[in-house]
Amino acid sequence: MRKFLLIVALSMVSFPTLHADEGMWLPSLIKERIQDLRKKGFRLSAEDIYSINKASMKDAIVHFGGGCTGEVISDKGLIITNHHCGFESIQSHSSVEHDYLRDGFWAMKMEEELPNDNLSVKFLVRMEDVTGKVLKSYNNKMTEEERKMIIARNSAGIIKEVTKGTTYDATIESLYYGNQYFLFVYETFYDVRLVGAPPSSIGKFGGDTDNWMWPRHTGDFSIFRIYADKDNKPAKYSESNVPYKPKKHFSISTKGVKEGDFTMVYGFPGRTQEYLMSKAVSYISDISNPHKIRLRTLRLETQKSYMEKDQAVRIMYASKNANVANAWKKWQGEAGGIKRLGIIERKRDYERRFNIWAENRPEYRGVISGLDSLYVLLEPYSFANDYNNEAIKSNEIITFAGTVLSYIKNEDGKFLISNRDTLRVIMEDFYKDYSPAIDKACFISLLGEYRKNIEAKFQPGYFKAKISEFGGTEGFADYLFNNSILVSKSAGMSILENTTDLSSLFKDPAVEMFLAFTDIYSKSIKPEYTRINNEITLLYRIYMKGQMEFSSDRTFYPDANSTLRIAYGKICGYSPADAVYYKPSSTLEGIIEKDNPLIYDYNIPQKMREVYKNQDFGPWGSNGSVPVCFLADNHTSGGNSGSPVINKKGELIGINFDRVWEGTMSDVAFDPEMCRNISLDIRYVLFIIDRYANANWLIEEMDLNK
Ligand code: ARG
Ligand code: GLU
Repeated sequence: MRKFLLIVALSMVSFPTLHADEGMWLPSLIKERIQDLRKKGFRLSAEDIYSINKASMKDAIVHFGGGCTGEVISDKGLIITNHHCGFESIQSHSSVEHDYLRDGFWAMKMEEELPNDNLSVKFLVRMEDVTGKVLKSYNNKMTEEERKMIIARNSAGIIKEVTKGTTYDATIESLYYGNQYFLFVYETFYDVRLVGAPPSSIGKFGGDTDNWMWPRHTGDFSIFRIYADKDNKPAKYSESNVPYKPKKHFSISTKGVKEGDFTMVYGFPGRTQEYLMSKAVSYISDISNPHKIRLRTLRLETQKSYMEKDQAVRIMYASKNANVANAWKKWQGEAGGIKRLGIIERKRDYERRFNIWAENRPEYRGVISGLDSLYVLLEPYSFANDYNNEAIKSNEIITFAGTVLSYIKNEDGKFLISNRDTLRVIMEDFYKDYSPAIDKACFISLLGEYRKNIEAKFQPGYFKAKISEFGGTEGFADYLFNNSILVSKSAGMSILENTTDLSSLFKDPAVEMFLAFTDIYSKSIKPEYTRINNEITLLYRIYMKGQMEFSSDRTFYPDANSTLRIAYGKICGYSPADAVYYKPSSTLEGIIEKDNPLIYDYNIPQKMREVYKNQDFGPWGSNGSVPVCFLADNHTSGGNSGSPVINKKGELIGINFDRVWEGTMSDVAFDPEMCRNISLDIRYVLFIIDRYANANWLIEEMDLNK
């Protein structure tokens, strides 16, 4: 019986055939799936989703700040994304006196909107299959090197041609490991201003305790506005810029959602690896994730112990801490999901069958065993690479030393600063959020782990010598943090005044550490890591093509690569464990249940308590409460944060912001039973803007449909 259940469970995993609602589809090809969308309830046409002839939904979606998604919600360039996507911008305008993280920020008129130095958004103008053009004059007798050169040359030509005389930029991306190439043309806007953000006790309600979890009650949104020059074209920040007039903006449905409703998520998922081999998946779940999790646990515990003691430190490390915690928790869910679903065994079985099929197909015959042996070779380098990321580069002082060095040039034997103004800004920015005490405590534990777990040949001689000189990692940390000029702001910034020679900087222990680890990484780790990975990618190109022939009944979709994608499905709950069933929507009642002034993550603003007490929810209420979040089975990933969640009529019903923990392995294998994306109900957003923040002028700009 047990065995039988297991087989049933396994057969629900995504491969080899594609299940309902799995997939991240290319917008320009959505016409090929429009029947399926319509069967599931969608009422509009493929042209409404993506068109180069008329305004379509894609014209209301932006890649926000490079890592998130946002959508236009008014004809005056108003955009909405997640609170965690606007977090750095909100933080950068915050101080102990004006703590917008703690208290929220609301412009009450356009003049009060806050410009952001390092924030841009881009729209997709169009996309196109350019495989033929990219591979023009390539033939399969050529070497890989020749192929690469041809691709680079052809791509540069295509990009030059499509951007000539425009304000556009373009990229060409490989799909299916180089079996296909697509051109993406973008228009990027640089003047993006902060308009509104709820306090973190709403926008990050539940904090890292609830992150990646359901039931969820996070009001994870923030609002920005795109500005353009007087011709509605992209421009750097200027007082004379005006609100951008979009080709298209979403209207908002306040009608409400219910289980079974069609939903579509349209955004920029970052990276998935659905076609990986079993060996690669087992490296992720059995080796890489457990180690990376451990290293981050050490960092988180240290940060937390200091943040609890001091409000200034809490603000300083809020964004850093959230970033560290986010992947830390995701990796745990992912490793668990891979195990639970037996994904490795399932893939092994698939590979066995593929091999039998490939026996009389010379093109594919050796591909699996080839990949297998390459992964064996790769493993020590992947492992060292993981540690380089998580135990070396994560030491702030080491990475900062590298940044400073990149601004030092050698002029006739003298070391001078190449770009003083930029370096000054970078240094100011670093010290604003830097606690040497936290960094030092992390340094001790992370370098201790590096020493213990990484082969001697990947440990720099400098590091080994210092460790023995100072009798261990702690002694060395004392020495480094007492002696590096970069540790304190006043000493660090003093290098900006030096106009004669900075060669002494190369004797600074933080700089020496940076150089020692960069040297060993670039000589002993990176070359092999890159070389083997290149060979792996090459074989994947063949394996991918082979999978498409072998599983000819399966519809393939390209892995996410930060390009615009469509996922669609329905609102639905799930059952994460025996006897447990989660309903798909949460309400304000849950916020009140969780509310606890003694627990930082669950301490709601006093004003929320009052609003609740008065039960005056206005048009945003439903069944005596206010809807807050909902679940659906759309296939999403990191980068889909802030994506519009769209109903069958093309109206905005929510903002995507997370996935459930049990389903985070969807980056390598999608399970329709367990994979759910979490969205903020748009009615909660409106409720907060209206009843909490009294920023109704924003709602007046929007088109609401009842
Ligand atoms: N898990 C979400 C995502 O991957 C939200 C992250 C931000 N929130 C947090 N509590 N760290 O980005
Ligand atoms: N929070 C994620 C993001 O920032 C989205 C959640 C996910 O990984 O699906 O993109």
